[in-house]
Amino acid sequence: MAVVDKVHDDIAEVVITEELLQARVRQLGKEISRDYEGKPLLLVAILKGAAVFLADLIRAIDVPVDYDFVAVSSYGKGTQSPGVVEFKKDLDSDVAGRHVLIVEDIVDTGWTLRLSYIREKMLARDAASVRVCALLDKPSRRQVDVDVDYCGFVIEDRFVVGYGLDWAGDYRNLPYIGVLKPEVRGEA
Ligand code: IMP
Ligand code: MG
Repeated sequence: MAVVDKVHDDIAEVVITEELLQARVRQLGKEISRDYEGKPLLLVAILKGAAVFLADLIRAIDVPVDYDFVAVSSYGKGTQSPGVVEFKKDLDSDVAGRHVLIVEDIVDTGWTLRLSYIREKMLARDAASVRVCALLDKPSRRQVDVDVDYCGFVIEDRFVVGYGLDWAGDYRNLPYIGVLKPEVRGEA
């Protein structure tokens, strides 16, 4: 009989608990609600990683807000610049006159935000302002400067999964942020 795999069994260490995540997302929601009071706000989440964070964040915001999605091409985890990051799915919404808050799961090297030119694109479409809200930030990995206006947690240089973040398409459904056992990533 097949062994039933549980995603939790592959986790070596929980880095951010579900309780801590939820508490921080509520705080971010309060900050954003205060900062954008009276302003038309549109959250733009980058698929797929930011979807889980977005779903909780939106419910922690208590001023009028809508959301939309973009998908950008991803690249390998090498240290080189990916060169080009393409939009695989553009916005459906009109951003003219709206305050755009880009929602990202994690800012690592910074290349995705930089090379997608998402900020420039939104401004070119007459967004009233563009800011970035990232759940996680790994500043020690940064290769290009990007402004992270709202940050959930600064973390060390470790590959993490859960709460939307994947490894090879798995573990997005974990309610916490964790580190995989080395043997799962073929390191042992
Ligand atoms: P950047 O372009 O290097 O800033 O990387 C951003 C993207 O890489 C994120 O949106 C994630 O999809 C992915 N990424 C970076 N670090 C991690 C990690 O620790 N776990 C899972 N995905 C990651
Ligand atoms: Mg991502």
